[in-house]
Amino acid sequence: MRRKITVVGAGQVGTTVAQLTAYKNLGNVVLIDIVEGVPQGKALDLQESGCLQVFDSVVVGTNDYKDTADSDIVVITAGVPRKPGQSRSDLLAINAKIVKNVTEEIMKRSSNPFIIVVSNPLDAMVYLAKKVSKLPKHRVIGMAGVLDAARFRTFVSLELDCSLVDVDAMVLGGHGDSMVPLPRYTTVSGVPITDLMSQEQIGRLVDRTRNGGAEIVSLLKNGSAFLAPGASVVKMIEAVLLDKKRIMPCTAYLDGEYGWSGIFFGVPVKLGISGIEKVIELKLTEEERKALDTSAEEVKRQIAEVDALLASRS
Ligand code: LAC
Repeated sequence: MRRKITVVGAGQVGTTVAQLTAYKNLGNVVLIDIVEGVPQGKALDLQESGCLQVFDSVVVGTNDYKDTADSDIVVITAGVPRKPGQSRSDLLAINAKIVKNVTEEIMKRSSNPFIIVVSNPLDAMVYLAKKVSKLPKHRVIGMAGVLDAARFRTFVSLELDCSLVDVDAMVLGGHGDSMVPLPRYTTVSGVPITDLMSQEQIGRLVDRTRNGGAEIVSLLKNGSAFLAPGASVVKMIEAVLLDKKRIMPCTAYLDGEYGWSGIFFGVPVKLGISGIEKVIELKLTEEERKALDTSAEEVKRQIAEVDALLASRS
């Protein structure tokens, strides 16, 4: 039977996810948004490209959650971006409301979806989706590490003037300023970049990776990245639906791994048909562990805000 992938939010990221999912023939796609006409228009436009791109996926655009029934995968991209004058917690409060509502609507109609959250602040929003959905920890995940690693890989390949495909990177931690790119686990055809570059070069690329999202925002001026984020989500969908058992950094629920419990955090995971099949624990140096702990503290503060919001609304 054909798989069903629901994408919540017909903005730039949602549209890119829908497009790549259809192009790769991964299943039927439902694009849902509260704005009337936009998901319908984008879905029809995408469907009309099927005979040209050669895909059989049925693409539906809708404002009605009924159409999301029995989804295998749900990608949540809904939420508002930060505006001038807004604090981080303003954004958290607004998007928490949206992500909570979306998750409730999804769970009324799909019994065991695999949920991928993209909405920001990511670590807090994926925690919220898990709490509201009551799904097991291997069925809810956040997209951040694949994107942050893709950015690091790109910068390494540009710096060394070598093929992108030979570069692998590992970026752990929260999806924010405190994320932890790991040069020791970042390689070119198996050779760690610590053997290929100076400390100064590595430091520069690490900083650029940490600011990767902001770099795009400052160039676009009105909006944030969507092509690499969309491609990152589809890499995760593909790993799950095709049971690839690929290992990639994702935002997963920690249950003692890396010394943390009850938080969502960027760590390497194995993705296959049942979702997160394993959290992989890397051996870290004292310095790497310290950086990771600092990032975890920041994520913990965001999660406490989510818990407080949920408690005040219940
Ligand atoms: C970024 C957004 C997707 O990093 O969080 O560009």
